[in-house]
Amino acid sequence: MKTLVKLAAVLVIGVVGIIAFAYSGLYDVSASAPHSGVADWLLSTTSHASIERRAKKIDVPDLSDESRVRAGVNDFEAMCVGCHGAPGKAPEAMGQGLNPPAPDLADSAGHMTPAELFQVTKHGIMMTGMPAWGATHDDDAIWPVVAFMTRLPSLDADEYDAFLASAAGMGHHAADEHGAGGHSHESEHASEQAETSVEHDHSTHAHDDKPAQPQLDDSHDDHDHDHDHEH
Ligand code: HEC
Repeated sequence: MKTLVKLAAVLVIGVVGIIAFAYSGLYDVSASAPHSGVADWLLSTTSHASIERRAKKIDVPDLSDESRVRAGVNDFEAMCVGCHGAPGKAPEAMGQGLNPPAPDLADSAGHMTPAELFQVTKHGIMMTGMPAWGATHDDDAIWPVVAFMTRLPSLDADEYDAFLASAAGMGHHAADEHGAGGHSHESEHASEQAETSVEHDHSTHAHDDKPAQPQLDDSHDDHDHDHDHEH
């Protein structure tokens, strides 16, 4: 009985200690601060185990299909390179300030299974800079990016650029790079994609085609003028 009371006391002190630590502000959450060894181990171990476990339930489609791989490269360039970089390309400023850093996906694709790559790309990684692309993209839009990532370990900078050039007009984000008509590939792959998903893709990417910026600036100016007159 005495041992039980002691155990309970230790437990209560532990919990109170953790709560006090949380409120104390002692832990530095700055992205510029180095992780402590313990926090690092706990986060990366939890993260790897969680991804592995969830990836086991994912059915992987045929990723060797060349048109699927090519459809992925423009999306990879538009959605991933800013943080992760690519062969011959450093991450942009946004990617350089991340903690934990966004790893080189050529390395990741070398040691992660396609199902694990899909799991992370679709669902993201909580409390890191890695977004859940599944929030805005359906599975048919994510598998091509995964298919392309499986090729990454074998590409050097020139081959990456050649791949990008050979895939002009393919993938959901082709419009970002090559002007209007970025969705023309939809008809080519209509047999692979359910009609509902095509409609969904169009609605989620409608913003890609709009020259929204100048209009926004104009209306902003008008607003400012109104504001000035009122005062
Ligand atoms: C805003 C920045 C950002 C963008 C954009 C981004 N990622 Fe990430 N990604 C990260 C960060 C940060 C991590 C590391 C998270 C960690 O250490 O737990 C990461 C991790 C990953 C991992 C796990 C790698 C490993 O070795 O564990 C994969 C796979 C991945 N990202 C794929 C993608 C793909 C595919 C895209 C584009 C569709 C993408 N990411 C776009 C920030 C980003």
